[in-house]
Amino acid sequence: MHAVDCKALAEKITDEIHNETKSMDRKPVLAMFLVGKDPSSEIYIHKKEEQCIRAGIESRKIILSENITHRNLLAEIDKLNGNADIDAILIQLPLPKQIIEREALERIDPGKDVDCLHPLNFGLFCEYGSEEARVIPVTALAVMKILKECDAAIKGQDVVVVGSSNIAGKPIALMLVEKGATVTICHDKTKDLKRYTRKADILVVAAGKKHLVTKNMVKYGAIVIDVGINRENGIMRGDVDFDNVSEVASYVTPVPGGVGPITVATLLENVLRLSYRKQSNGIVPKPDIEII
Ligand code: GUN
Repeated sequence: MHAVDCKALAEKITDEIHNETKSMDRKPVLAMFLVGKDPSSEIYIHKKEEQCIRAGIESRKIILSENITHRNLLAEIDKLNGNADIDAILIQLPLPKQIIEREALERIDPGKDVDCLHPLNFGLFCEYGSEEARVIPVTALAVMKILKECDAAIKGQDVVVVGSSNIAGKPIALMLVEKGATVTICHDKTKDLKRYTRKADILVVAAGKKHLVTKNMVKYGAIVIDVGINRENGIMRGDVDFDNVSEVASYVTPVPGGVGPITVATLLENVLRLSYRKQSNGIVPKPDIEII
């Protein structure tokens, strides 16, 4: 086990994508919807735009009013679904309350669903696994890339995932099961969280609660992956109390500068997958990038 420089890993993945895009007939195109003025969403979109440039991907940002009606948002999604130039569509979450998030995500053409949030794509991933999936949930892939880079054993290991969201906890747990781990998913209704977390060889925290995990909840020598991003007065903090947990864990990913930058890189990998698929009329060609 050794520590990973997550920023360097993200750059390496992005450069590998660039290696692929530079020999494509047409640059892949990612369209991103930013609805309203959520400051965190604006930052995330900006980071994705920056990395698209490095990866040789064209990004198009569609800014929509906070007050857009549900119907009009669906019409905007339909326009991009029908636009043959666009390979991938992302709707930055969260959405304003008048929007039915589930319907918006289901409206995206599954062939352009870069976040793997359409039920068809999530279903393909659950049923057939990451090797056969069309796209892979970006946070799950980022976690796997970190574990691979730090040479962590996964098969037969006890893993605890804290958080059961569709965007993070559930796909992370599934992907670790696929790789042979014994996985327990905990969440906000779990009785006595530390009873579980203390048994974990690998602890992944995606609960969205600042400094939820402290050293008394962590097994000595465990690997701790912090997926949480909690902003308070402009400062970003993880779900793990980094300094405190570092006293017992063999490795803890930092926030910022840990999982976050890698999820941007894995998102761009999905753009590449969708673009290859589209350019080859669905007879797929895997990008020359190792999944994990
Ligand atoms: N908001 C927070 N994380 C994400 C993400 O991974 N994808 C999208 N679309 N929105 C988010």
